[in-house]
Amino acid sequence: MNIYVFGLGHIGLPMAIWMALKGYNVTGIDIHRDQIETIREGTVAIQEHHEGKHIASIARDLLKTNKLRLQDTFHRMNDEPSIFVITVGIADRPDGTQDVSTVHKVVDTILPSLVDGDLLIFKTTMIPGTIDTIVIPKVQSLHKKIYVAYSPETISETAAFYELEHNERILSAMDEDSYVTAEKFLKSLTDSPIHRASTIKLAEMVKVVQNIDRDVNIAFINEVSEVALKLGIDIHELRQLVNTHPRVQLLEPGPGVGGYCLPNALKYLQLALDEEMRGEMQLMNTARELNNLRPIKIVHQVIKRLSEHGKGIKDAKIAVIGLAMKDYCADYRYSPALEIVQHLIREGAEVRAYDPLVPAYVIHQANSYEEAINRADCIIIAAKQENVGFDPVEISERMDKPAIVVDTRNALAPHPNIYLYKV
Ligand SMILES: NC(=O)c1ccc[n+]([C@@H]2O[C@H](COP(=O)([O-])OP(=O)(O)OC[C@H]3O[C@@H](n4cnc5c(N)ncnc54)[C@H](O)[C@@H]3O)[C@@H](O)[C@H]2O)c1
Repeated sequence: MNIYVFGLGHIGLPMAIWMALKGYNVTGIDIHRDQIETIREGTVAIQEHHEGKHIASIARDLLKTNKLRLQDTFHRMNDEPSIFVITVGIADRPDGTQDVSTVHKVVDTILPSLVDGDLLIFKTTMIPGTIDTIVIPKVQSLHKKIYVAYSPETISETAAFYELEHNERILSAMDEDSYVTAEKFLKSLTDSPIHRASTIKLAEMVKVVQNIDRDVNIAFINEVSEVALKLGIDIHELRQLVNTHPRVQLLEPGPGVGGYCLPNALKYLQLALDEEMRGEMQLMNTARELNNLRPIKIVHQVIKRLSEHGKGIKDAKIAVIGLAMKDYCADYRYSPALEIVQHLIREGAEVRAYDPLVPAYVIHQANSYEEAINRADCIIIAAKQENVGFDPVEISERMDKPAIVVDTRNALAPHPNIYLYKV
């Protein structure tokens, strides 16, 4: 059976590859030609591995055997009933508003080719109500036997192949036949449990609430971290001991919330609501504001620590190590580390950023980790990356004295010659 996967980004590419590895003939479609070219050339930057191989090389092997094909303009291979997996995200406009036209466009692309027996399964994180209002009326207007289902994606970047295989799935569908067809397809991929949502809107809401849950709880642990620092308490020891309680699970503190999903989740919920209800969501709104403030709070922490040691931020050499939105990742969308860099520059600091996986065109970077930390007045550890050692001896020797490190990722071991602030 042919599968067409729309969108070959962080979610769509691993998914297309995984389905091809399961034996399906997969055609991946992405309207951005560059994306197709990087896959063909084997230069995919995303950090996903399966059985020891990088995703770029798995993709190339599959391309050679035609288990995976690529298109930048959609062409249906034949008229046999097929499966259409949609991973194209709702777009973010530069002004921060959401653009659902991406979903409209992908549906309009597929619609004219549909035949009886086709299944459309959406993985996109949706504003609750989107599939009922945008997708289903269009499909029903065809008066064909088309199945429509929604199964939100929960995989985490850098763990895509493992989580595709093991994560539990939520599934909802337009009608009973759609549900049965989609469930059969999902079961053909992996045995991991499937939970039925009674309506598609509810399933859309599940995904949005999962993301907001993390957003709120990150705001909470970061606030706890700020309080702990004030009290001279190690946040990581505190967290470890708090989490011995069987019903408490603190997340890890960090430099803020990045990536495409979590910072946008609250907007998705707000767009499903009226003005009055939006204002009433005090906890979620506050958490979001706190998460937006976290990068500048990290910078204030740096200013405070420098000043305690008789240094000012203006012209201070600050190394920001790790620019990705999370550890061991190449994704820098909404990365709090990039915001930290911007704030530091505004404060007049001389910033030397470094991340081996984030391209230099995103932000000017030092040529190496060593160059970034040499003679630095302060190091901010904003993300861990492979082959970036965070060796305390090397750091204490290379830095200007006193060596000040603000560690947002619990990456550095204490050392007598380093003033280490874990936040
Ligand atoms: N990144 C994550 O960790 C993650 C996790 C779970 C769910 N999600 C959700 O998955 C969806 C995709 O996220 P992503 O991170 O993969 O985004 P992405 O931006 O990395 O990939 C989306 C891809 O879709 C392509 N595209 C846009 N319009 C298209 C069209 N009409 N036809 C074909 N391709 C088109 C883009 O060129 C892009 O390559 C989003 O809804 C996101 O919220 C993401």
